[in-house]
Amino acid sequence: MRNALHFLVIWLAALAILVGAAWFSLSHTTQAWFDKDLALRSELAVSGARSALLQDLEQGRDANLTPLLEDIARDERILGAAVCSGPRVVAATRAWPRELSCAELGGHLVAVGRPIPSWNSSLPLPGGEVHVSAITLNRGVPTAGFAVVVHDLSFVARREASTRQFLLAAFAILALLASAVTLLSVRILWRGFGHALRQLASGQDDSRRREFQPLLKDLRDLLERLSREEQAELQGGLWSPERLKLTLQRHLHGERMIVMANREPYIHNRQPDGSIRVLHPASGLVSALEPVMRACSGVWVAHGAGSADRETADMRGRVRVPPGEESYSIRRVWLSPEEEQGYYYGFANEGLWPLCHVAHNRPIFRAEDWRHYQEVNRKFVDAVCDEVDGENPVILVQDYHFALAPRMLRERLPGATILTFWHIPWPNPEQISICPWHAELVDGLLGSSILGFHTQQHCNNFMDAVDRFLEARLDRGAFSVARHDRTTLVRPYPISVEWPNHWAQGAPTPEECQAAVRAELGLPLDAKLGMGVDRLDYTKGIEERLRAVERLFEREPEWIGRFSFLQLASPSRTLIDRYQRLNDDVEQLVNRINERFGTGDWKPVILRREHTEPADVFRYYRAADLCYVSSLHDGMNLVAKEYLAARSDERGVLILSKFAGAAHELTEALQVNPYDIEEASGALSTALHMPPQEQAARLRVMRSLVAEFNVYRWAGRMLIEASRLRSREQIAGILSSSQPGLKVPR
Ligand code: G6P
Repeated sequence: MRNALHFLVIWLAALAILVGAAWFSLSHTTQAWFDKDLALRSELAVSGARSALLQDLEQGRDANLTPLLEDIARDERILGAAVCSGPRVVAATRAWPRELSCAELGGHLVAVGRPIPSWNSSLPLPGGEVHVSAITLNRGVPTAGFAVVVHDLSFVARREASTRQFLLAAFAILALLASAVTLLSVRILWRGFGHALRQLASGQDDSRRREFQPLLKDLRDLLERLSREEQAELQGGLWSPERLKLTLQRHLHGERMIVMANREPYIHNRQPDGSIRVLHPASGLVSALEPVMRACSGVWVAHGAGSADRETADMRGRVRVPPGEESYSIRRVWLSPEEEQGYYYGFANEGLWPLCHVAHNRPIFRAEDWRHYQEVNRKFVDAVCDEVDGENPVILVQDYHFALAPRMLRERLPGATILTFWHIPWPNPEQISICPWHAELVDGLLGSSILGFHTQQHCNNFMDAVDRFLEARLDRGAFSVARHDRTTLVRPYPISVEWPNHWAQGAPTPEECQAAVRAELGLPLDAKLGMGVDRLDYTKGIEERLRAVERLFEREPEWIGRFSFLQLASPSRTLIDRYQRLNDDVEQLVNRINERFGTGDWKPVILRREHTEPADVFRYYRAADLCYVSSLHDGMNLVAKEYLAARSDERGVLILSKFAGAAHELTEALQVNPYDIEEASGALSTALHMPPQEQAARLRVMRSLVAEFNVYRWAGRMLIEASRLRSREQIAGILSSSQPGLKVPR
């Protein structure tokens, strides 16, 4: 706009200078032209009577001069004529202007001081300007006198004025025409250029047009530079909280980050003794996102589920965390028991959770739960919008609790960067279509700028679902979906843990942990210890894991009394029947194994069905000779990565289900099919016999991988890609606003 104004001012100034110059030169030219013309006319008028005039003058016949002069002055533009001899008016016509005296004209001649034969000039008189021509009457030197002809110049002024008006009008029309033609040409050119550019950008142009070659080269150079920079940015050393913070500042101009996740990272619970205890929930999502929030600060919008959550939050449900090292806020959303039942227990955990995990548990979909799911998604969106303080916030929508929220957010905050991460598997279209509202779920997720899954397979499944259930433009090469003029990138971002891990850093040394944990469990110092740590969830394969332990004792009874398995099982979603049944089944199984193989005080399986704080979990990790992750189906499973993070001594063995997302990365783990009890018990045996050098070699490879691909890198990659997408959207916005009505794919 400012540029256009500048251009207009410059254009008007140039026009004014042009018109002024033309005006000036025109006045001069016409003046000179009229002077010349009148001098000639005077000459002509006098020439016929010249000799008679000279004769009468020389012979003193003054009375004869007047008729001759009247004859000369017959032309209507001639005001008068006279004959001067020296300073004396010898004869003059009747209309001769009295103000003009020969003396004055002679004075002029004297003043001019040159013996000129004739003389012409314009003189101002009270009645208006006149043109005076003095024509010599002589037969040689000296001059006998002058015949003076006076022309009225007012007609010249009139002509000049009308010429000026005409000129001005012509210039104005010309300027208008020139401006219109210029604007039209620029518009047509710009339209064509924009269209061609857009075709080029969308790959519909064969890009062989010559005029685009320099631009294409520049673009290619720019892209190469950006991708080099991006690669360097991703690869340049380990990712840390500081580096993530810098990335956020650099790429998204330090926008405040808002996380939307059902589970809060700090739960305030009232204890039986009346005190308030802060609990760190067992949740892979929380383990991953919490360090990111500590690094970037911002707000975490979550369900306030703790018994003392309300009293520890302010009027808006906000509380600063982590306690004692406050760096970000939790914004608690309050749910009624009906909402929690329908949205959390019902639709999310009885419907979507079993649907997405192939763990052979029938999903249940109730219309009432769906209604609550929609309402609670809206409620969370309201809370997020309440926290937003700019037009382009960065919102991280987390997990299957909020499949509808991205679309709702997009409608209310069109400029937001919405990064959605689906922490659990995404099944194939046949399976997802079991949900009666599958199309709504897919559409809801497409409100995101970027939609992340743990694995490429989950991305493929999602693309297939879009293809099958919605009207949208899919680009399978770029893994993007265009719907309602917006593009969603679908990408695999394998999630990870913080590195170095702050729980591990605070834990005692591995040697201290080994001694302390064995003492705590009543085991001899040289006893081998295996462990599993999970929420008590049927997808984790806890029963299969315990059966593998049982099978080990059957196959290798020499381990009786020398090997124990510690199962930490955090109670989870306990209002759901299936979880209650699992609790009973696990209890019975543990009792059976302990009855079969237990001796005296020694138990082969130690089951802890209670919440264990992360600091303690890390102590157990450091004490255990092996950790068995036996998920029947899992998005990633961060227990596997946490175990590696805890083992700074490079000792211990990880046994990992091949059905956990982590198996794609942690190939040095002993990978098993958890359903295959023989194979799993064989892996337990291998782990127990594995020499320390082999343990170290395997752990070193996996630890360096987790260190490099830590959760800061996970978040950084998403933020860098989001900022690139945002820039592209801004360019597309500029292009489309330059051509209103033309839809630009974004
Ligand atoms: C999984 C989900 C998380 C969830 C966690 C704990 O890891 O992906 O979203 O927070 O389980 O489950 P809960 O229901 O206790 O939050």
